[in-house]
Amino acid sequence: MANETFIGWMTAIQQQMETALERLLPAADCAPQRLHQAMRYATLEGGKRVRPLLAFAAGELVDAKPDNLARIGAALEMIHSYSLVHDDMPCMDNDVLRRGKPTCHVAFDEATALLVGDALQTRAFELISQPMAGVAVASQLEMTHTLAHASGHAGMAGGQAIDLASVGLPLSMPELEFMHMLKTGALIRASVLMGAMAGRELSAAEKQALDAFAKRIGLAFQVVDDILDCEADTATLGKTAGKDAAHDKPTYVSLLGLPEAKRMAKDLHDQAFAALQGFGPQADRLKQLADYIVARSF
Ligand code: IPE
Ligand code: IPE
Ligand code: MG
Ligand code: MG
Ligand code: MG
Repeated sequence: MANETFIGWMTAIQQQMETALERLLPAADCAPQRLHQAMRYATLEGGKRVRPLLAFAAGELVDAKPDNLARIGAALEMIHSYSLVHDDMPCMDNDVLRRGKPTCHVAFDEATALLVGDALQTRAFELISQPMAGVAVASQLEMTHTLAHASGHAGMAGGQAIDLASVGLPLSMPELEFMHMLKTGALIRASVLMGAMAGRELSAAEKQALDAFAKRIGLAFQVVDDILDCEADTATLGKTAGKDAAHDKPTYVSLLGLPEAKRMAKDLHDQAFAALQGFGPQADRLKQLADYIVARSF
């Protein structure tokens, strides 16, 4: 691990990701311009880039090449940005603010927002399936499979379906956990696993430990998102605060109350940390990211 502060490391990766995304998104002045402009609008200059950060941190465990991690990070961020564009549409959460800007369908139009999602998703798979220097084809195939599984019916899209079908319903804890694991946890988990697929092969025990970390931190991420929706303000979040309660969404806060939801986030963080016990200092960035994910203010 490079001897630099966490904030310095995070800022450097965020900048690297901005440059990579700039390059890997279609040019705004190429036809169809409106679609390309909207893809860039939804993806660039915004977001914490948590998924790429996790891929880079996991990449440290296996000495993965930064260029490959940047491509993996860009694919993850395109899938994530697509999920946000669709999540904000009137047929879903009907939000007008995202990453401090008007949402994509507001700044452009609904049909464009729909196509932005489609095109970001396929661009992500195009990127991940292009040969990566020093990465075995079998590993890239595994990455592609991991990303597809995490994004589709058994991951993000499935979780979003459960989220929409659960409005106003009193979900049980296992049902709520299942929804969170899918809608947000799956892509976070994939981010960690895909970063670790870009370098030396981990042992079966190491893979299991990393997966345990990834699952716990993925769930913690959405628990904290639910807490922030309730506690933080719109200006800090860059998205409308208080909308879960307004839309009668089942969340950890609505089911357990704020103090219990916070305890849950802390427990998940501690479990995630414990899973990394067997790794040396190469896991320090993952631990720092786990701290950041539960302590963040937006
Ligand atoms: C928000 O994700 C939506 C969820 C999946 C909880 P992020 O909090 O990662 O959003 P950005 O990318 O930083 O805007
Ligand atoms: C969205 O969850 C998860 C996605 C897959 C996009 P939320 O609906 O809670 O995300 P925010 O709060 O709008 O960012
Ligand atoms: Mg939603
Ligand atoms: Mg939403
Ligand atoms: Mg939310």
